[in-house]
Amino acid sequence: MKLTNLLLGLALAATTMSSACAQTLPQPQKQGGMPLMQAVNDRMSDRDLNPNVSITNQDLSNMLWAAWGITHDGKRTVATALNKQELDIYVITAKGIGRYNAEQNAIEEVASGDFSVLAGTQEFAQKAPLNIAFVANTDKQAQALFQGYAAGAASQNIYLYCASAGLKTVVRASFKAAELAAAMKLGANQKILFVQSVSH
Ligand SMILES: Cc1cc2nc3c(=O)[nH]c(=O)nc-3n(C[C@H](O)[C@H](O)[C@H](O)COP(=O)(O)O)c2cc1C
Repeated sequence: MKLTNLLLGLALAATTMSSACAQTLPQPQKQGGMPLMQAVNDRMSDRDLNPNVSITNQDLSNMLWAAWGITHDGKRTVATALNKQELDIYVITAKGIGRYNAEQNAIEEVASGDFSVLAGTQEFAQKAPLNIAFVANTDKQAQALFQGYAAGAASQNIYLYCASAGLKTVVRASFKAAELAAAMKLGANQKILFVQSVSH
């Protein structure tokens, strides 16, 4: 093998290893889907999750945008008190933990490795191919009521997207809070409110 090819191969391998879950997402699909009232009717919690099939990047992009994407004048798909925009959304998969960057439509890597076992206390959640954590930035919004409103609205949008896309989901208050926060490298001003599991 030529030296240049070897170096290129090593560089590619290093990139892959250092960005196990970092990625630019496909553009979210903002049109189509199930009629809204049908999705509202079909929304439900489902714990019979399929651990074996990954969520596609297109579904991931769509549901993250529905949860916390940017719409009008830099504002979000959900209302926040005084437009504080206090949420951060993290994704936890077998590859690692990432943070949703709505401006860049990307996942920024936080940690490499499988921390899914920390994302729940129930077995179905620990084995889910995707867990989404709603994190409040308490510097931006100190009031738990308002934080909970934002996370609940974002969660509902994921429920509606999943109903429309034929995916299963359940939001949970049960997760290994301290260990998950450590794995997510959260600051003292960041609090995990809920975790939502998603599967086919
Ligand atoms: C704040 C909150 C916390 C929840 N925590 C859990 C949980 O830890 N584990 C679980 O299996 N379901 C959890 N759920 C799901 C509820 O059990 C579920 O929404 C409820 O049974 C109603 O069912 P539905 O969502 O299908 O309407 C939670 C729901 C909410 C809103």
